[in-house]
Amino acid sequence: MQPSQTILGLESSCDDTAAAIVRVGEDGAQVLSSVVLGQAELHAAYGGVVPEIAARAHAEKLDICVEQALTQANMTLSQIDGIAVTAGPGLIGGVVSGVMCAKGLAAATGKPLYGVNHLAGHALTPRLTDGVAYPYLMLLVSGGHCQFLLVSGPDRFNRLGGTIDDAPGEAFDKIARLIGLPQPGGPAIEETARSGDRNRFAFPRPLLDRPGCDMSFSGLKTAVLRTRDSLLAQQSGLTRQDQADLAAGFQAAVVDVLSEKSRRALETYTADGERSFCVAGGVAANQAIRAALETVSSHFNAKFVAPPLALCTDNAAMIAFAAAEQAGTRPPDDMTLSARPRWPLDRVQAPMLGSGKKGAKA
Ligand code: KG4
Ligand code: ZN
Repeated sequence: MQPSQTILGLESSCDDTAAAIVRVGEDGAQVLSSVVLGQAELHAAYGGVVPEIAARAHAEKLDICVEQALTQANMTLSQIDGIAVTAGPGLIGGVVSGVMCAKGLAAATGKPLYGVNHLAGHALTPRLTDGVAYPYLMLLVSGGHCQFLLVSGPDRFNRLGGTIDDAPGEAFDKIARLIGLPQPGGPAIEETARSGDRNRFAFPRPLLDRPGCDMSFSGLKTAVLRTRDSLLAQQSGLTRQDQADLAAGFQAAVVDVLSEKSRRALETYTADGERSFCVAGGVAANQAIRAALETVSSHFNAKFVAPPLALCTDNAAMIAFAAAEQAGTRPPDDMTLSARPRWPLDRVQAPMLGSGKKGAKA
């Protein structure tokens, strides 16, 4: 890493348009500004993210975000050392909007351009927030992604396992829709589950009977759907208690799967010095999941690191920071940088199959 760099980052791979300025120096990293403009209201009527609407909104909001990020940091573009942008994976229209904007800024200012993998942004966040040393174990768990990564350098990611179908956040969102709760489903389910009985319905814990760290959440979703349908066949609608019990039962199943698979991932992870188990992604905001993972981590004497919520969910500070981390190990991109809807972090293993509603999995 070069001493003291100030990077402007852009993020537009799903339904959040974001810009941030991060300074990285010998004394650590500092988020000078971070602006996130969500699009929830634009997609609310459709029950999920509509890629074309997202792409248009990104194109309209990116320059506003950049302006706000510069204003908040009290800086001008001339004080920026480099432009970083999510170049994938994600919804192609949004990623293209970000890449075009970043290329324009790089061309206009003559600053170096860095195309960053969105997943690398999430996976490197524990270094931004807590200065965690390599190698560390990361569970990346969001609306579009779910994987265990051994992170041993700015661009060295070894995938230990991941979902073979839905990501957990996607499942939270779909279940919320099924049982009549608002979007985003994660916070709504977490809140509703507080007054529920997690044992009223017996939901499956998929893939626990198989070795390894791969996960599956689509069968769990189907099980909740069937239970909801059998309730609806007996009565005219779901009661508040039904909603709470379905939410609690579903969340408990996700907690059990993530805990057991984390235990297995921790078993395979060794480090010379302190061991760290880190989480990132929107689902890591869930208190029940955080608490369970912290307990597993403590059984292995690993330090548990969960970044603050604003840096767990999609943001541009993680993109700016990842570019600064990687700047010492790779050259900047040129104007041929293109958007990559699929871009696995682990270049050795075959990509995981499947593509979720909120973007391509990796
Ligand atoms: O990382 P993120 O902001 O976006 C990407 O998917 O990349 O994650 C958003 C996802 C949504 O599916 C949302 O329902 C889920 O994170 N989420 C939660 C919670 N807060 C957000 N899931 C469970 N519990 C929560 N408290
Ligand atoms: Zn994300």
